[in-house]
Amino acid sequence: MKKTVAIDGPAGAGKSTIAKLVAEKLGYIYIDTGAMYRAVAWKVLDTGAGTTDEAIIRTAEKLHVSLRFVGDNVRVFADDTDVTEKIRTPEVTALVSQVAQLGPVREKMVELQRGMAKDGGVVMDGRDIGTVIIPDAELKLFLTASPEVRAKRRFLELEEKGTPQPYEDVLADIIKRDKADSEREIAPLKPADDSIVFVNDEYDLEQTICYVLGLIDAVEHFYGREN
Ligand code: CDP
Repeated sequence: MKKTVAIDGPAGAGKSTIAKLVAEKLGYIYIDTGAMYRAVAWKVLDTGAGTTDEAIIRTAEKLHVSLRFVGDNVRVFADDTDVTEKIRTPEVTALVSQVAQLGPVREKMVELQRGMAKDGGVVMDGRDIGTVIIPDAELKLFLTASPEVRAKRRFLELEEKGTPQPYEDVLADIIKRDKADSEREIAPLKPADDSIVFVNDEYDLEQTICYVLGLIDAVEHFYGREN
């Protein structure tokens, strides 16, 4: 049986970079669950039907979100529209936590994500992967750092992508989303009881990667390398 790896944590903690690398090392598929919530938020803005909870739920009910391979790359689709790049705008980022706290939206995503994880061979990152989606994952990691350090990383990332934003705005978004994600009623952001929490303020990406790859080796040793 192929294993599953769950990586949770707040924005800017390095989840997606680590998850991609771990997936590559194990030959598993990387699943970015945040992208799925972002696809719903994108559709809400695209339809222009408003951002009340009722309007969001109606839009989400009709929408089919999927992750599809295009060549070697996993792309995000909202119905048949490829939204992989469109879901990274500040407008989508500002709306996504409101979308993600709605019960009917989460129910739909939970079902889809559990379906994707059921045969193993996946590394999933998000907010509720170790607590709700795959609580029996062989490795559960919770990556975090202070809001200031995470905002600095996000700020540099956005600058590098050619979509710069003022540091103060990035920090404000991170603080706002941290609060919304950890205080919501359904599936709040928190480490699973049996997760390994790694606070990486003092570690750069390379050191975090070394730490996590060490854990992967330990998991392979413990459960066997055989898929
Ligand atoms: O990449 P970033 O850390 O900015 O966030 P993301 O992983 O793209 O997730 C965007 C938002 O989706 C989060 O702030 C959460 O509100 C929500 N989310 C969630 O509720 N549950 C997940 N499993 C993944 C994301």
